[in-house]
Amino acid sequence: MLVSAKEMLKKAYDGKYSVGQFNINNLEWTKAILQTAQELNSPVILGVSEGAGKYMGGYKTIVGMTNGMIEYYKITVPVCLHLDHGSYQGALDCIDAGFSSVMYDGSHEPIEQNIANTKKLAELCAEKGISLEAEVGSIGGEEDGVVGTGEHADPDECKLIADLGITMLAAGIGNIHGAYPADWRGLSFDTLAKIKGKIGDMPLVLHGGTGIPEKMIAEAISLGVAKINVNTECQWAFQKATRAYIESGKDLQGKGFDPRKLLAPGFEAIKASVKEKMELFGSVNKA
Ligand code: 13P
Repeated sequence: MLVSAKEMLKKAYDGKYSVGQFNINNLEWTKAILQTAQELNSPVILGVSEGAGKYMGGYKTIVGMTNGMIEYYKITVPVCLHLDHGSYQGALDCIDAGFSSVMYDGSHEPIEQNIANTKKLAELCAEKGISLEAEVGSIGGEEDGVVGTGEHADPDECKLIADLGITMLAAGIGNIHGAYPADWRGLSFDTLAKIKGKIGDMPLVLHGGTGIPEKMIAEAISLGVAKINVNTECQWAFQKATRAYIESGKDLQGKGFDPRKLLAPGFEAIKASVKEKMELFGSVNKA
């Protein structure tokens, strides 16, 4: 059964570790993440961008696939299915389809609009018992064609949004999706501490988890980050393993090729990446 992120993040916040959100793109990705979470006895959040949602045949397909896998592979650790960087309509659609959590990313809207939309969704999510993530200050880099510059969120705006009844808050503190540039100035822990000072004990979310150095991850967790998002890392691992397999020439001649064999090295590579991140975030044996 899918669960909201509320309880797992409260435990993570209190226990000073983070639950990983790993974005999914297909069946292999989903299976690799679920099985790794089960093997490591870790709670897990599956992230779905709107683009990945379209690619995988819509939100209802994803809910069906995830629930089916949880049953088939006997997954007993807490699993949350979460919309990543959703629009207002995307959040409504995911709630309707049976997601257990949604993110509404109003960080590109004027703050008044972000507040109005977040408020309406907070009421709806409370009614349905699902968790809601909101965002203030855009995350840098590109995701699903949306490019952000890596802002530092305004702590007062964070407080306005946090008070609307959301479960967790993503605040830009110089984090970037994907690869970090050589001249990156690092995370702003000063901003993070100010935000925490304003919003109190609400779990914070750190996007851009692929390239953040270990020490910064530890410091972010100590300042209230309880959920860390990872996407690019698994894409890189999948691509590298698949390319190596193709270049090896194995099983590509003869009677045609078997997609199950082609995708197997990538599947194992995702498992290894997820394991590494779960160990780094401290969520192993916290299910
Ligand atoms: P990365 O792609 O840097 O891992 O970030 C993922 C993310 O924040 C998804 O919301």
